[in-house]
Amino acid sequence: MKVLVITGSPHSRGTTALLADEFCVGAKDAGHEVIRFETAKLNVHPCLGCYHCRDNDGSCVYDDDMTHVYPHLLTSEVVVLVTPLYYFGMTAQLKRVIDRFFAINPRLRKTPKGLYLIAACGDKDNWAMDALLVHFQTLCRYLHWQEGGKVLAIGAYTREDLKDSDYLMRAKNLGREL
Ligand SMILES: Cc1cc2nc3c(=O)[nH]c(=O)nc-3n(C[C@H](O)[C@H](O)[C@H](O)COP(=O)(O)O)c2cc1C
Repeated sequence: MKVLVITGSPHSRGTTALLADEFCVGAKDAGHEVIRFETAKLNVHPCLGCYHCRDNDGSCVYDDDMTHVYPHLLTSEVVVLVTPLYYFGMTAQLKRVIDRFFAINPRLRKTPKGLYLIAACGDKDNWAMDALLVHFQTLCRYLHWQEGGKVLAIGAYTREDLKDSDYLMRAKNLGREL
């Protein structure tokens, strides 16, 4: 299968990057093709809400790095969202890319996929990720994509915090068991 991993952290070597690394190792071990985009490094404009795409067959007024993301988005069977928790949601970097899905919404909604979620946060409250999870589930529902697996690492302020947990193993297994 083709697996598209979209990471949202500004930290290339942070907590969620490590979880994404493990997931990718597991997915590659299992023979999957993995394409990874680091949204913080992409030149992607926030959606203007101009609706140009609606009247122009999905073409956006911006010619930016989304032109590299769209083809993989359309052809991947699995999409994995990876984000640290920022104010109980995903990062702006990741959201900016998801908002730009809008241009190709009709095609995305007709292309069945599995959507997976990998996230980390510092808090240990069991409700810390509730808002993020509902957003994720709502995306699946709207896009007609199947809700895939999740690794929600609570109590993980830094990648050091992951070392004494089973989250790294769970991320690798999630990739292996796609
Ligand atoms: C702007 C900002 C907002 C954050 N908001 C939350 C939050 O709402 N809840 C929480 O538990 N941790 C929060 N954190 C902590 C991060 O989610 C946590 O440190 C995470 O491991 C960082 O992942 P990264 O290294 O992949 O960027 C926040 C951190 C920053 C910088």
